[in-house]
Amino acid sequence: AEIRASASVNSTGTGPVIRPEIYGQFAEHLGTGIDGGIWVGENSSIPNVRGYRRDVVDALKALKVPVVRWPGGCFADIYRWRDGIGPRAQRPVTLNMWWGNTEENNHFGTHEFFDFAELIGAKTYLNVNVGTGTAGEAREWLEYITSPSNSSMAKLRRANGRDKPWKVDYVGIGNEMWGCGANITASDFAPMARQYSTFLNEKGVTLIAGGASGDDYDWTEKVLAGKRGELDAISLHYYTLPTGNWDKKGPAVGFTEADWAATFARTRRLDTYIAEHDKRMDAVDPEQKLGLMVAEWGTWYDATPGTNTAFLQQENTLRDALIAATNFHIFHRHADRVHMANIAQMVNVLQAMILTNGPQMSLTPTYHAFMMYQPFQGATALPLEVSSPEFRAGADSVPAVDVTAARDKAGAVHVGLVNVDPDENATLELDLGAFRGRRIEGLVLTASKMDAQNRLGARPEVTPVRFNGASWSGGKLRVRMPAKSLVRLTLR
Ligand code: AHR
Repeated sequence: AEIRASASVNSTGTGPVIRPEIYGQFAEHLGTGIDGGIWVGENSSIPNVRGYRRDVVDALKALKVPVVRWPGGCFADIYRWRDGIGPRAQRPVTLNMWWGNTEENNHFGTHEFFDFAELIGAKTYLNVNVGTGTAGEAREWLEYITSPSNSSMAKLRRANGRDKPWKVDYVGIGNEMWGCGANITASDFAPMARQYSTFLNEKGVTLIAGGASGDDYDWTEKVLAGKRGELDAISLHYYTLPTGNWDKKGPAVGFTEADWAATFARTRRLDTYIAEHDKRMDAVDPEQKLGLMVAEWGTWYDATPGTNTAFLQQENTLRDALIAATNFHIFHRHADRVHMANIAQMVNVLQAMILTNGPQMSLTPTYHAFMMYQPFQGATALPLEVSSPEFRAGADSVPAVDVTAARDKAGAVHVGLVNVDPDENATLELDLGAFRGRRIEGLVLTASKMDAQNRLGARPEVTPVRFNGASWSGGKLRVRMPAKSLVRLTLR
């Protein structure tokens, strides 16, 4: 039977601003995430702009990527920045011990990253090395990048071809310090985070302490306890594994309705995790100045058969688009505390925006979810309440319909809607109070199969099309959504 849901939006209310950085990205030296996916080098037969793939750069520009985190991930804590500067041919080959022990030619280094960020118009999030580095090396790296002076670091940057300093917007101090970062405890890391923050404190740079995974609230509590040094934020990582089992995460395609429901149920846990970390942060920061940066999030499935499992390549389907939107809604609900989020990862790795293979390139369903939600960047979240029946399959149950709403600077109201029921259409009655936007524009993303995807070299199965299913009726907006769909409406 068709699903009937309702939502009431306080259209004159004012929630927190949804910072554009919530739509941030993450690019690590991992598999073909950068090498091949973003960077092919100037002499490649693949069309490129100064070494960056033209197709990928164009797609990312269109996406209005607010910020990119680099160089890792686990890789950040083995990265020596000096290996990635100077003439490319002379850069040392190092081993990427975390991701298949592959040879890293270091051709994509500091200059290439900051040039890339400029090219796509994104802010920069530099994750510095704590695990195998020192605060001094990190300090010099920051000086190399940002100093307008005549210091030896600034001169070295100029000698390597860049006169003007770049802007570093965010600095991450360590990554997963409880795991690949160094396998240390929160109590061990807390003084290190403060030490690093002391030397990386620069005007305009937001300092982020390496944070917890999932529901490890103790980590957040301990790292932020007592004197916090110059820290502005702490990170949080949470991956959606359909099974919750790292040894058998579940397939990216060819899954059942029970797997589908489990994936949404698992992703929704992040709502509780953020709320609980937020409580711990409130205790030390009641004014909510500190940010909680969800620096890694997204789906993590079994690797695409036939690929190097260390490269974390996976297929991306309609499920991923709806999962992305479900996460956007969670971030909007917590926009007072969540100042940034970075999906893992940008190209070819985990829940990617873009997949490439040699000269081929495709935009994933996740890319389209980001594209559809672009108007939420910088808009003001509107308080709302949703009432929806549950969708049940296997052992899991999740609300079938989920809604988010925000008002932009021009006064337009944007509404994001997800119907996760794979079989039933949904009709949503939306009460927007006194707001009457007579001009309705909409986009819908859906497909006939749960695991529809945009395969390389084939006709895409998942692309947004115009949505005409919303109309005013008796002072309410009635929205008729197809099964397993994502809708964005703009009302003016
Ligand atoms: O995104 C892949 C990896 O997942 C990152 O390098 C690490 O931080 C996390 O465990």
